[in-house]
Amino acid sequence: MLLPRASPAVTLDEYLAQAAALRDELDQRLAALDPGQRLDVVKGLLKDWRARLDDLQRAITAVPAESRRPAGSALNDLKRHFDEALAAYATRGAGAAAGPGLDLTLPGREQWRGGVHPVTQVIDEIREIFRELGFTVAVGPEAETEWHNFTALNFPADHPAMDLHDTLYLDEGVMLRTHTSPVQIRVLQQHTPPVRVLIPGTVYRRDFFDASHAPAFAQIEGLAVDEGITFVDLKACLTRFATRFFGTARTRFRPSYFPFTEPSAEMDVECQLCKGAGCAGCKGSGWMEILGSGMVHPNVLDAAGVDSERYTGWAFGMGPGRIAMQRFGIPDIRTLYDSDMRFLRQVAR
Ligand code: DAH
Repeated sequence: MLLPRASPAVTLDEYLAQAAALRDELDQRLAALDPGQRLDVVKGLLKDWRARLDDLQRAITAVPAESRRPAGSALNDLKRHFDEALAAYATRGAGAAAGPGLDLTLPGREQWRGGVHPVTQVIDEIREIFRELGFTVAVGPEAETEWHNFTALNFPADHPAMDLHDTLYLDEGVMLRTHTSPVQIRVLQQHTPPVRVLIPGTVYRRDFFDASHAPAFAQIEGLAVDEGITFVDLKACLTRFATRFFGTARTRFRPSYFPFTEPSAEMDVECQLCKGAGCAGCKGSGWMEILGSGMVHPNVLDAAGVDSERYTGWAFGMGPGRIAMQRFGIPDIRTLYDSDMRFLRQVAR
């Protein structure tokens, strides 16, 4: 025999009283909560209350059919009161904790995590290209002897670069290096050829800090010494570098003079801004000067203790700061040193 469903009848009054009791309880519990909590946290704390609301919803079937409509509307009122009370609570909580107008439930604003400085980007790229060409990296001291910085590099004793006006001396015969070339000497003193090194570093000059001069700046030196090295190696390597670094740019070599190389040459690449047409960036020439280079002078090899009858070599030096300025169209060198976030955000990767 089938038993009728055991569902004790609930009168409308009893149902409404239960709804009223639940509503009172909700108001009391919300009033007792600490303000400033997030909406989802408050909802979690009221989970059991929410379950009893669901029970009340199910109990509507126990109310006599003719009373269901008022019971149902009491239930809906209670649900609406719950939603409104929570919304009001969360706003009040946030306001109490952080002042008016702040919504602590919003996701935070993303902060800039910083990036690689444009000069460092250029140095890293150059290092990678020369690594592929078989160069390792060497470094040397920034406080350098006059002998390494000038004498061993075949500077004549009266060369103007050695003047107090151009060089920052620390002591008699000791100075802040004016270029990375003295590291050529240090590397050759320590290693027997074949030698192929790239030497990045900071150098110092007694210059005014203006739009195109800085008293301290980065240089990258390169040195290759071995038996049978010729100017062809120099041209091939540096052209390869320019092609990799600038894309398919045209290059040209112009004769030049440095005391530590013979012959010496400066390398230009087609101006990246106007593609050779001539613009303000290249002063109308269509070319940008990129580096100084040359065959290592035999006197330099001899000073470093390398047999200049047996070995030959080539070297180059360039300024990654100037290359970064050309690449990013930076008109004033000082912006590279200012740590101005508005500038760095545009160029730091
Ligand atoms: N040391 C030079 C300077 O500071 C740059 C340079 C030119 C380096 C020619 C070299 C080179 O190694 O071969 O202006």
